[in-house]
Amino acid sequence: MGKLYVQATNTAIPLSTASIVARKSTRTSTLLALVGLAVFTALASLRYYSLHFGAASRSPTPLKFYANITQPRGICPSVRGDASSYAGYIGLAGDTEESPRRSFFWLFEAEEDAPNAPIILTFGGGPGTTGMSRPLTSQGPCILTANDTISNPDRITQHYNLLALDHPIGTGLSYGLKVNNSRDSAVDVYDFLQKFFLLFPHLAKNQFVILGGSYGGKYIPNVATVIQAQNEAVASDESTSAVHINLESLMISNPSSDPIAHYRWLLYFYCELHTVYDAETCTEMYAKLPECLDLIDTSLQYTGFSDSANAARRAARESCSYIAWGGDTHGVMVENVHTRCDEENTLDCLPQFKWLDRYFHDPAVLRELGIPPFVNFTALSDDVEAEFAKTGDVMIPTHHLYEPLLAKGIRVLHFIGALDGNCAWPGVFSFLKLLKTPFQQEFLQASDVPWPTPESDAATVRAVGDGAGNMTYILIANGGHFPQQDEPALVKDIMEHWINNRPWS
Ligand SMILES: *[C@@H]1O[C@H](CO)[C@@H](O)[C@H](O)[C@H]1NC(C)=O
Ligand SMILES: *[C@@H]1O[C@H](CO)[C@@H](O)[C@H](O)[C@H]1NC(C)=O
Ligand SMILES: *[C@@H]1O[C@H](CO)[C@@H](O)[C@H](O)[C@H]1NC(C)=O
Ligand SMILES: *[C@@H]1O[C@H](CO)[C@@H](O)[C@H](O)[C@H]1NC(C)=O
Ligand SMILES: *[C@@H]1O[C@H](CO)[C@@H](O)[C@H](O)[C@H]1NC(C)=O
Repeated sequence: MGKLYVQATNTAIPLSTASIVARKSTRTSTLLALVGLAVFTALASLRYYSLHFGAASRSPTPLKFYANITQPRGICPSVRGDASSYAGYIGLAGDTEESPRRSFFWLFEAEEDAPNAPIILTFGGGPGTTGMSRPLTSQGPCILTANDTISNPDRITQHYNLLALDHPIGTGLSYGLKVNNSRDSAVDVYDFLQKFFLLFPHLAKNQFVILGGSYGGKYIPNVATVIQAQNEAVASDESTSAVHINLESLMISNPSSDPIAHYRWLLYFYCELHTVYDAETCTEMYAKLPECLDLIDTSLQYTGFSDSANAARRAARESCSYIAWGGDTHGVMVENVHTRCDEENTLDCLPQFKWLDRYFHDPAVLRELGIPPFVNFTALSDDVEAEFAKTGDVMIPTHHLYEPLLAKGIRVLHFIGALDGNCAWPGVFSFLKLLKTPFQQEFLQASDVPWPTPESDAATVRAVGDGAGNMTYILIANGGHFPQQDEPALVKDIMEHWINNRPWS
């Protein structure tokens, strides 16, 4: 095996061939060169901007980064045989051998025309939920069951590349120094993507879509904002070799984005639309609501991460959390109020998280994915959650970040499970209606059209704009917090319409 090259934007970068354990690939692609590479890559020309929401300034060039990528075999059966995928680690800014910051990703290739297929970036909610949950519970080529890993008829990897990221650092299989807020973690995602596209350069031109839910309602608008700002900086600076990321649209399910709308509407969902709380608990919680809303209002007077800002948000978080989680639901599972959960721990009603823990402790899986022995997977990282709690990040509203994005042509889809009380639809619909965008008037006036047929009661679609819309809201009748798990075929159909920008009817 001679020298291997990864094609960068304009120069070929020689990679160290120190520990190549190349396996035969059935594909003829430059990716072959990556398999089994453990490299510190010299990237003399990689430069981009250190960005703090608007203020773009040149950052010192990260000259080298760690990458260790494998091509896993035999751990993910698809309907077409062994799924074609790449997995591994990319070192982020600040990463050293002594103090690592390494992001784990798993790229599931599209079955059809992978080199040109759109690329969907996805991560988990939480904060601290593994980004592997979406592919392995509902939308990847294979999914987990109580005892097994089986092929998935409802995969979105038929036509799209799915790039699952354990984000932020500390989540799932990613390891090292953590961040404590969504803004900083979005800068990490941009750093990851730049390095990812240097390693997979042929994918950089492809349509790029970001997908997530729940705490993704914090991550996605932040990540999209960083990408958009960096793309603008790249476009106006010919001396940079940072890669333009072809960000086209966003797909968000049941998000936590606007804390005010969330809590204004939560008890309406718990107490009026459904019986998540009984009458007595509702009375108690309604009495506490004004304090929660006041504390959010107070926290909104701060921006940034000063001690007083963090303290104000923590106070709001504590008060409001009691309303959401402090009452007895008498067995109703908040993530899907049509499901009853007899056990104390409602996570027992979401066994998928246990299945993920099982899968990512299987020695064969860990070996194929190239996971170092000191990494101990958890589907939900309490440590990441604790870091974000320090800044009260959940109380930072992110919905307004959609306004400039929408105005600049980034399309935004919300597809919402109607049975979810965790991020309940009335709060989501409320903030969407209030967004000041070129689409606001039309969005307010549009009707909710039954879909996929005019007689269907499966979902309604409210879309503004050509094709599948610039700003679209879909309510899925039988979906909970994870609509893709409850209605996998419907959600696949929704995503194919959305990404191909096809009209709904
Ligand atoms: C999974 O395995 C357990 C114990 O081995 C068994 O009791 C259970 O029936 C199995 N479940 C399915 C769906 O096969
Ligand atoms: C790269 O990963 C493999 C496992 O896939 C591991 O054996 C090797 O030590 C790693 N190399 C480096 C430099 O981390
Ligand atoms: C991994 O973490 C789990 C729970 O978080 C714990 O029970 C287990 O002992 C840990 N395993 C190792 C090898 O540290
Ligand atoms: C959040 O992280 C930053 C950077 O590591 C650190 O300076 C800051 O003190 C942390 N904030 C809190 C509240 O721990
Ligand atoms: C709406 O989306 C289309 C793509 O379907 C795009 O061409 C257009 O610029 C967007 N409209 C606005 C006002 O951003």
